[in-house]
Amino acid sequence: MKVLVTGGMGYIGSHTCVELLERGMDVVIVDNLCNSKAQARERVAAITGKSPLFYQLDVRDVEALAAVFRIHTFDCVIHFAGLKAVGESVEKPLLYYDNNLNATINLCRVMDRFGCRNIIFSSSATVYSPDNQLPLTEQSRVGDCSNPYGWTKYMGEQILRSMAQADPRWSVVLLRYFNPVGAHESGDIGEDPRGIPNNLMPYISQVAIGRRERLSVFGDDYPTPDGTGVRDYIHVVDLARGHVAAIDYLMSHKGTEAFNLGTGVGYSVLDMVKAFETANHIEIPYQIAPRRAGDLPEVYADPSKSAEILGWTAQHTLEDMCRDSFRWQSKNPQGYDG
Ligand code: NAD
Ligand code: UFG
Repeated sequence: MKVLVTGGMGYIGSHTCVELLERGMDVVIVDNLCNSKAQARERVAAITGKSPLFYQLDVRDVEALAAVFRIHTFDCVIHFAGLKAVGESVEKPLLYYDNNLNATINLCRVMDRFGCRNIIFSSSATVYSPDNQLPLTEQSRVGDCSNPYGWTKYMGEQILRSMAQADPRWSVVLLRYFNPVGAHESGDIGEDPRGIPNNLMPYISQVAIGRRERLSVFGDDYPTPDGTGVRDYIHVVDLARGHVAAIDYLMSHKGTEAFNLGTGVGYSVLDMVKAFETANHIEIPYQIAPRRAGDLPEVYADPSKSAEILGWTAQHTLEDMCRDSFRWQSKNPQGYDG
């Protein structure tokens, strides 16, 4: 099985490459390194003993991408490449629509040209409308996204659906991730955000190693048990394994199918702080701050469709997520730069 992994040098992509390589698959990565570092590839090679091929290119560059397809015959593509910072997408919407949508469109054109029509797309829980009942199932309403990033995922899904409807040779799996956290248990690959982290777990990890003074908890007056926001955190290695399960499904079905990748359990911000403190025997100073614009009180998945059809369920505990995040951050205080 030869798999093209777009965005494979990034956080989720690098963990997925490890799982693919460990199962004996051939992996080719394309990435423009706009939000990742070349060292990720060396780390993946050190973990697995196998070095994935890497081409530095922008997925929007049709000719550069076609050159890779001329060299390799792929069985399928996992399409991670995309920009993902919610706040930045509000400030620079065209950057997000251009990068995320044109990358997807160009990739599909090139795949079609070379006769590879099996694609797994990185989607997000953010495609679900804010007014759904919980837990979110794949049947929950989508749309009414609160930021351009979310709309690029919504539109990306729609583009792929339309394409598969028009041409029955396509097989499309849409994976809707909830909140990926944690790192490979080696502590050698992990999330390496640029600048001040937007997301909770990287922020907590940086407080833990003294890079940030204290966590700001965005709102303690939500209608949740302790008043802080509740999310469905999933260990990135479980998420990566969800892609392996999705490949089996992809290769034996046509058309489009969406799957939630979450645990089905919601934890609050303060639950996360306590779990991190307990798992790592360290104190996380925090202060209560105003709510962050666009945040929902509570988001968690119903992952039963993935369990039934893909045969996949998340295995790692909250303690694993906290311990592995801290191990990565402690071994790499400045991320891949040291
Ligand atoms: P990441 O930024 O670590 O990885 C994305 C990779 O894509 C990076 O290595 C980046 O350099 C590359 N890239 C971006 N645009 C590119 C382009 N035009 N051409 C080539 N390479 C390009 O992000 P991640 O957390 O690993 O996320 C992977 C995917 O999953 C993204 O599509 C993201 O939107 C989606 N997703 C992430 C989360 C999350 O919380 N991390 C949640 C839901 C969905
Ligand atoms: N939070 C804080 N302080 C921080 C950071 C976050 O209190 O410094 C809180 C947020 O208010 C929220 C929770 O922690 O209640 C989780 O926030 P994250 O930013 O880690 O995650 P989100 O659920 O907001 O968003 C993430 C990804 C999106 C994706 C979404 C899918 O960042 O890209 O999950 O559910 F779309």
